Amino acid sequence: MAVKELSVFMVCFWIVCADAGHEFFSSTDQIAQLYGNTKDLLKVFSQCVDAENVETTKSVLPNHLLSYSDSENPEEAVRDPVAAYRLLRQMRNDFMYIVKRIQLNLTRCEEYQNELDPMIPQLEDLDGAASGLIKLQEIYKLHPEDITKETSLNADEAFNVGLVAYDEDKFQHAFLWFLYSLDRLTENSTTTEEELLRFLSSSVYHFGSLSVAIYFSQRLLNLDPSNDEARVQLNRLLHLQSNPDIFPLNTESSNYEALCRGEVDERISKRQRALSCRYSTGGGNPRLMYAPVKEEVEWDEPRIIRYHDIISDREMEILKNISRPQLSRSEVYRSGITKPLKLRVSQSVFLSDDPVEAGVSQRIADVTGLSMESAESLLVQNYGVGGAFEQHIDALEIENDRICTFLIYLSDVEMGGATVFPKVGVAVHPKKGSAMLWYNLHRNGEVNWNTEHAGCPVLMGNKWVANKWIHEFGQEFRSPCSLSDWE
Ligand SMILES: *[C@@H]1O[C@H](CO)[C@@H](O)[C@H](O)[C@H]1NC(C)=O
Ligand SMILES: *[C@@H]1O[C@H](CO)[C@@H](O)[C@H](O)[C@H]1NC(C)=O
Ligand SMILES: *[C@@H]1O[C@H](CO)[C@@H](O)[C@H](O)[C@H]1NC(C)=O
Repeated sequence: MAVKELSVFMVCFWIVCADAGHEFFSSTDQIAQLYGNTKDLLKVFSQCVDAENVETTKSVLPNHLLSYSDSENPEEAVRDPVAAYRLLRQMRNDFMYIVKRIQLNLTRCEEYQNELDPMIPQLEDLDGAASGLIKLQEIYKLHPEDITKETSLNADEAFNVGLVAYDEDKFQHAFLWFLYSLDRLTENSTTTEEELLRFLSSSVYHFGSLSVAIYFSQRLLNLDPSNDEARVQLNRLLHLQSNPDIFPLNTESSNYEALCRGEVDERISKRQRALSCRYSTGGGNPRLMYAPVKEEVEWDEPRIIRYHDIISDREMEILKNISRPQLSRSEVYRSGITKPLKLRVSQSVFLSDDPVEAGVSQRIADVTGLSMESAESLLVQNYGVGGAFEQHIDALEIENDRICTFLIYLSDVEMGGATVFPKVGVAVHPKKGSAMLWYNLHRNGEVNWNTEHAGCPVLMGNKWVANKWIHEFGQEFRSPCSLSDWE
C-alpha cells in the first residue's frame, strides 16, 4: 500500500521533471538533476522489488546500483566533466538493466518502466559528453591522464571516447584514448585487445606515423596469427613503408585556444594603464545614488566593462530555479536559420514575466543608461560537459540590431569557461554575481568586429550565465553615461 502511494507521487514528479527524448549532456545542471532523481527512484523501486519478493532483492539490484548514495551532492558529483560522462554511461547501463529485469520477471513493478524511460540517457548523450572531453583535450592541450586526474575511466569508457574522436577525424586524440584504454584492460572489460590494437594502428596511420602503425598491426597479428584482415592490413602498411611520412601533425592553434589556455592576455601585458576601476551611479541615477555599482574597465577598445555584485545570491538562485525545468538545447541563429550546432553546447531559456527578471532588467537599465524598450528577454544558460560556445559576434546584422550585450555570470567556474575576445586578445573570467558589458555596434550602427568572442570549454565546474541583449530602437534620446567614449 505504501509502495503504491509512493509510486503515484513519483509518476507525477517525473512528468514534471523530464520529458521523453530530453537531452542531458548539453547541460551539467540537467545531469545533476537526473542523478538526484535517480537516487530517489532507485529507493522507491527497491521497495517495490522488496514487496514482490524479499529473497531476490539483492540479486536483482547489483551492488553498484545501490551505490547511488544519499550522501553525495549531485552538483558536486558532476562538476568534473569526466565524472559527468561516467555517470551518464553508468545511469544508462543501470536503467537499461532494470528495464530488462522488469520485462523479464518483475512485472508487478512495471509501472516504473514508464518513469524510467524518459530518464535513460541516450547514446547521443554519451557521444556528446565524450565529444566534450575531446574538446577539452584539444583546447587545453591535455592528455587523457591529465583530464582523468580526479576521476579515472575504465578501458570501456576510454575506448568509447576514442571512438568518438576517431569518428570526428581527430586521430591523435583518438590514439591517446585507445592507448589509455589498452593500459586499463582487465578480464572484465568488454573492449578487446584486438579491437584496440586495430584502432591504434588505424588512428596512428591517419595522422602519419607509419612505423608506429606497423608496430600495432604486428602486435595484432602476433596476438591472433589467424586474423587475415590484420595480415592484409600489415602487408599494405609494409608496402607503404618506403614512402616518407606525409601527414603533417596538426599543430595549428588559434588565438581563441591560446586565450582559453591563458597563454596570452593582452590586458595584462600592455594596456593595463588605461584600465581602471570606480564606483558609478549611472550618471546620477537616483536608484544608484546610495548604492553605486562597482565598475571596472577590463578593456578600452572595444570597451569591455565589468560590474561587480550586480545581482544578489538570492536572485541568482531564483533565476536558476525557474529556468531549470524549462531548459532546452541552445540554438544558433545565423543568416536567417536557427539550429542547434556543435559550436554551442549548452541549454537555455528566455525568461520573461517574472518579477526577479524584471528587477534585473531595471538594474541593467540603471547602470547602462539605456532603454529596455526593445531589449530581448533575459536568456539564462547552463553549459554542458566540456561546454563551450565558439567564436561569434552577438550582432545579427539586421535593422534594430543588438547594440550591446550584458552578460551576467550566475556562477563561478573552477577551471576554464572564460569569455575571450580573440581579435583583441582579452580573456575575462567568470565571477559569480558580476556582469560584462560591451557594445556590438559602432556609434554609426556598423558592426564592431572586434567584439567577436567565445566561451571557453568548462574544465571544472557548472557554468551558468544570463544574457541581456539591448537593441537600437528606444535609445535615440539617451546618451549612455557609463560609456562616454563610446565611438
Ligand atoms: C528473474 O530472472 C533472472 C534472469 O533471468 C533470474 O536470474 C532470476 O532468478 C529470476 N528471478 C525470479 C524471481 O524469477
Ligand atoms: C572482475 O569482476 C569480478 C566480479 O565482479 C571481481 O571480483 C574482480 O575483482 C574484477 N577484476 C578486475 C581486475 O577488476
Ligand atoms: C530553489 O530551489 C531549491 C530546490 O527546490 C530550494 O531548496 C530553494 O529554496 C529555492 N530557492 C529559492 C530562492 O527559491
